[in-house]
Amino acid sequence: ADQKAAYKERIKLLLQQRDAVLVAHYYTDPEIQALAEETGGCVSDSLEMARFGNKHPAKTLIVAGVKFMGETAKILNPEKTVLMPTLEATCSLDLGCPADAFSAFCDQHPDRVVVVYANTSAAVKARADWVVTSSIALDVVEHLDSEGKKILWGPDRHLGAYVQKQTGADMLLWQGACIVHDEFKAKALIELKKQYPKAAVLVHPESPANVVDLADAVGSTSQLIKASKTMPNDTFIVATDRGIFYKMQQAMPDKTFIEAPTGGNGATCRSCAHCPWMAMNGLKAIEDALLQSEGHEIFVDADLREKALIPLDRMLNFAK
Ligand code: 13P
Ligand code: SF4
Repeated sequence: ADQKAAYKERIKLLLQQRDAVLVAHYYTDPEIQALAEETGGCVSDSLEMARFGNKHPAKTLIVAGVKFMGETAKILNPEKTVLMPTLEATCSLDLGCPADAFSAFCDQHPDRVVVVYANTSAAVKARADWVVTSSIALDVVEHLDSEGKKILWGPDRHLGAYVQKQTGADMLLWQGACIVHDEFKAKALIELKKQYPKAAVLVHPESPANVVDLADAVGSTSQLIKASKTMPNDTFIVATDRGIFYKMQQAMPDKTFIEAPTGGNGATCRSCAHCPWMAMNGLKAIEDALLQSEGHEIFVDADLREKALIPLDRMLNFAK
């Protein structure tokens, strides 16, 4: 505990010295989220992280999350230094959607508007007409569908199928998945619901369709936190990364939050519902990044940046 407190004090000082602000995702470990809160940074979903970094006057952004979040920050703020605790923190959706193969897929379907999830590389965003996060995917696709557009969607197949079902839009899906959410199991969830008949089920739409079908509320991280505050239930079963429990418990200390099962036998696998890349954002890594940018700084090729900015700006302007 002493060592952690010492890290925190040194990081606070470094943030001031470097005119830096900490921008963290809800899936990072509780101590990282608390540090972002204590130091005037932000803890939020991926859309708000992009907005916050864009508005904040600090010269340096330190992004505690995964690489696509750092890249998005850099694309939106080329004049700022964007650091990450580790550049190794990637995302299975990003890994499962290489730019060359995705671009070839788009070339085969020139009649479709290309909508990509924010969880992609700058090169994939550069090939897209729209970028969306899970908090506005439904709204954007509804809008495109109302204009009669056909959509090519990538990379998350579960989120894509959910959006398709809700909007009725014509969507062709890339077959990517999040390794964390893909593990939630419907059969075990049905058993758990029997044990807690009054619990509401909250599900992130990166989960498989049969899990989403059991939900009382489906949404992005921020939408699930909001649901936990506004729904009258005392108990919630939550199908998303367990990092989110910090915020839910903080806002609703009297409510009970239970992890949705990731094992087929009804047992909750404690290490499954936590993104291994989000978990890399430790205190030491944050201090290292602030001490020495080298090996922590995000760079985006100027040509890619210019192209990726167009669909990203479209998202931010649409969401206003
Ligand atoms: P949110 O946009 O809902 O925060 O999701 C980001 C993410 O990586 C989910 O796995
Ligand atoms: Fe990617 Fe899934 Fe991790 Fe989110 S939780 S960053 S979608 S691997």
